[in-house]
Amino acid sequence: MCGIVGYVGPRRATDVLIGGLARLEYRGYDSAGVAVIDGDVLEVQRRVGKLANLREAITVKPIEGSIGIGHTRWATHGRPSEENAHPHTDCSGRIAVVHNGIIENYSDLRSELAAAGHVLRSETDTETVAHLVEAYYEGDLVEAVRKVLARLRGSYALAIVHLDSPDEIVAARRDSPLIIGLGEGENIVASDIPAVLEYTRKVLALRDGQVALVTAEGVTVTELDGTPAEPEIIMVEWDLAAAEKGGYEDFMLKEIYEQPKALRETLRGRMGADGVIQLSELAMTPEQVAAIERVTIIACGTSYHAGLVAKQLIEAWARIPVDIDVSSEFRYRDPIVDARTLVVAITQSGETADTLAGVREACERGAKVMAVTNVVGSRVTREADGVIYTHAGPEIGVAATKTFTAQIAALTVLALRLAQAKGALSEERVAALWDELAHIPDLVEAELEDLGSIDECALAFKDATSSLFLGRGSGVPVAMEGALKLKEISYIHAEAYAAGEMKHGPIALITPDIPVVVIATQGHTYEKAVSNIQEVRARGAQVVAVATAGDDEIAHHAEYVVTIPRVSEQLCAIPATIPVQLLAYRVAKLRGCNVDQPRNLAKSVTVE
Ligand code: M6R
Repeated sequence: MCGIVGYVGPRRATDVLIGGLARLEYRGYDSAGVAVIDGDVLEVQRRVGKLANLREAITVKPIEGSIGIGHTRWATHGRPSEENAHPHTDCSGRIAVVHNGIIENYSDLRSELAAAGHVLRSETDTETVAHLVEAYYEGDLVEAVRKVLARLRGSYALAIVHLDSPDEIVAARRDSPLIIGLGEGENIVASDIPAVLEYTRKVLALRDGQVALVTAEGVTVTELDGTPAEPEIIMVEWDLAAAEKGGYEDFMLKEIYEQPKALRETLRGRMGADGVIQLSELAMTPEQVAAIERVTIIACGTSYHAGLVAKQLIEAWARIPVDIDVSSEFRYRDPIVDARTLVVAITQSGETADTLAGVREACERGAKVMAVTNVVGSRVTREADGVIYTHAGPEIGVAATKTFTAQIAALTVLALRLAQAKGALSEERVAALWDELAHIPDLVEAELEDLGSIDECALAFKDATSSLFLGRGSGVPVAMEGALKLKEISYIHAEAYAAGEMKHGPIALITPDIPVVVIATQGHTYEKAVSNIQEVRARGAQVVAVATAGDDEIAHHAEYVVTIPRVSEQLCAIPATIPVQLLAYRVAKLRGCNVDQPRNLAKSVTVE
């Protein structure tokens, strides 16, 4: 929910901190701050609002010093204000702390600290950590932090500096992400990989419960009880260019256009020479697959919509019943999950708190849990029994785009594999579906070059206050994703419905001011979708139809038509998604919205 960075090495720390925070700003942008040890002074600068405000303050009044910590905030405890911005300091002003997560027992700790004479100046949970370190410090920062951690309930990724040990950063994590970029004579602590890529691709993934002592010369990792830990080192496959805009106006637009590549990478190597779908991550024998009685999918937001597509495919091809739940509901409703259930947890970031809690719940009930994630080494990869990676590269825009279609690609592979293992589809059918699936990246590439008509559709939405998205079959999750994209980046209210549901209530909303998007691609419900278009048009609505190339009929029914390449009905979710993503993007730009950093949102939701 927040982004943290720490730097120690020969460079000016603020340069690295501000650069790193800029790459983490997708995690929160309510306020930003840095604390840098400059000689015998701990300099703290904090500003409300976007990082640009802090950057400007530091340009006016530069801070020297080559060790420091920084933070970009998504407010949980306390409104966005300068007092509540991180870093937080202790009473002496010699200790500074940045934090991502929630200290659940902060209220008790505040009372205890106040009773002991500490003066707390903010409304945050984090400030208690700075004062606790002050209370426990006896000359060894790591030891003091260890004692503090034993007092904390909740989640944290922490980076802490103390003027008494001006060459050290102490970092620790529990239930919030934290990595350390390992450079030559310098090391960088961060919430996510893009913040360190300018300096190194060698990354230490700190595990839950570990504490790291970070100096310019090296990193020592120990468990919470002080025993030495074996660090997990990852070489990052992508480079800094992948985490930059590369000539595009926004990350979101770049990421929309990166979809052909993301799809190709995700599908690469999935078909064996023997005609068997390669999914060793499933690690199940045909007998074990045969014993699966049900699949349960858990996910949030966009990942949930990918799960809806997967439900349709697994049921259609593997003939296994599939339940799907938003993670925050699943975990609290005593779900029926046991050793005969395959639970599929979909999370782009691998850090979503509700999905992780759902994974734990499922594991406790004896289910086999497969994670589908885009982030190597993320939390879910350690908690699930197996991991299917999407290879979409880093997604910086808060609105998920390329990771959504990559999730659908990965889940389509899973559905085919389950069908094959169950013997529910013939070899010929699997081969034909695979051929078509493998061709989708090329189709999407061509589609992206030919979507100029979206600009005209966007004008119909520009001044709307509300809109509807309708679809049938695989068009339902696409409609839901289109509505989510539009509301999160353009702030236009958008509702999605299975088109057949419209007459059961939503049609009452239709007026000429409400534009309606109908996913009307060809398939066995095409004519029904056309009827739905007629019904809303009869009530004055303007319709944008997402239709199949070569459908000459549809132009007689809808004001605006956007076409997608012809693919078979069950595989059309990916191509049908591209126009709704671009529509949301263009509408948001027409309305002057910040598409990469929409208000109130953060990329990964690491709190419940
Ligand atoms: O990292 P996750 O896939 O678990 O994230 C789930 C949602 O928070 C995420 O999809 C969110 O809905 C995006 N803002 C959608 O664009």
